[in-house]
Amino acid sequence: MPITMLTPDCLRLAQERVLPLLERHLQEAPAAASRLLSAMSYANLEGGKRLRAALVYTAAQTFDAPLDHADAAAVAVEFVHAYSLIHDDLPAMDNSPLRRGLASCHIAYDEATAILAGDALQALAFEVLANDAQLPVAMRLNLVQRLAKASGVHGMAGGQMIDLLYTGGSEKPSLTQLQQMHHLKTGALLEASILMGCDCAGLTDAFAREAIATYGQALGLAYQIQDDILDVVSMEGNLGKPQGRDAELNKMTYPAVVGLGKACEMREALYQQGMAALKPIALDTTRLQDLLTFVVRREN
Ligand code: IPE
Ligand code: IPE
Ligand code: MG
Ligand code: MG
Ligand code: MG
Repeated sequence: MPITMLTPDCLRLAQERVLPLLERHLQEAPAAASRLLSAMSYANLEGGKRLRAALVYTAAQTFDAPLDHADAAAVAVEFVHAYSLIHDDLPAMDNSPLRRGLASCHIAYDEATAILAGDALQALAFEVLANDAQLPVAMRLNLVQRLAKASGVHGMAGGQMIDLLYTGGSEKPSLTQLQQMHHLKTGALLEASILMGCDCAGLTDAFAREAIATYGQALGLAYQIQDDILDVVSMEGNLGKPQGRDAELNKMTYPAVVGLGKACEMREALYQQGMAALKPIALDTTRLQDLLTFVVRREN
């Protein structure tokens, strides 16, 4: 992603920190099938805002964890995210030829390789978490459980299924159904990234955890609403993925269901909710605020 004025320092730092780690874990994976490893690397190492890694690191830092305790979680959420993007672009899903400014994985390789690259990245994410010897075993288990829930039937994959069921169909979801779909397909992994950062810091304070969960839910939904909005309003070439694709596919997005103006209003309301949730936390939450601002103001 090009560094812009909008990029907060904590996102820039996460981008710099996590890239060599992603590279290292990909190199260390068994290379019996170098084509598979090559496709996994292709989908991970170029572009990408690394927002999920930044959320892990920033939450961990906010609650005083050393950054290296958050490295495995940051890598794992980026691997699961990259896998979700590879599969999302497949012909059977959104059939999209462009991702992060490059040919989508199934175009650069082939469909079967892209499917396997997604599968293998998902497995690698959990391997990285389970193998991080500097975290106590109970903490690793906690991180594995959180990531599994956010990526499976109760999270990303479940939300993607709902998205596909609505795509091109005649049935328009209610606002509640749309919100649930967005929470699952995108919000769950973003919220999990924040909570995994808190887990890495051993945060047990129930009050702070609840405040952070509320912030995470607002940020996660606002993120996908902004993604929907950008698909309508962004400048061609800015996104690194095709623009106007949602309308072409007759996707159930916020602008499609409630209109562009109302979608922007809802994004702003979530911004306010997320900011308000951070207020009672008696620690420096500036970086978490910066990330939420980035989420709603970003242009790609
Ligand atoms: C795109 O995610 C897919 C959604 C969940 C909206 P990002 O916009 O975070 O994609 P990258 O990682 O920066 O490419
Ligand atoms: C995808 O939502 C969410 C994922 C779980 C990958 P979109 O289909 O809107 O994401 P983009 O616009 O292709 O990045
Ligand atoms: Mg999709
Ligand atoms: Mg898509
Ligand atoms: Mg989209």
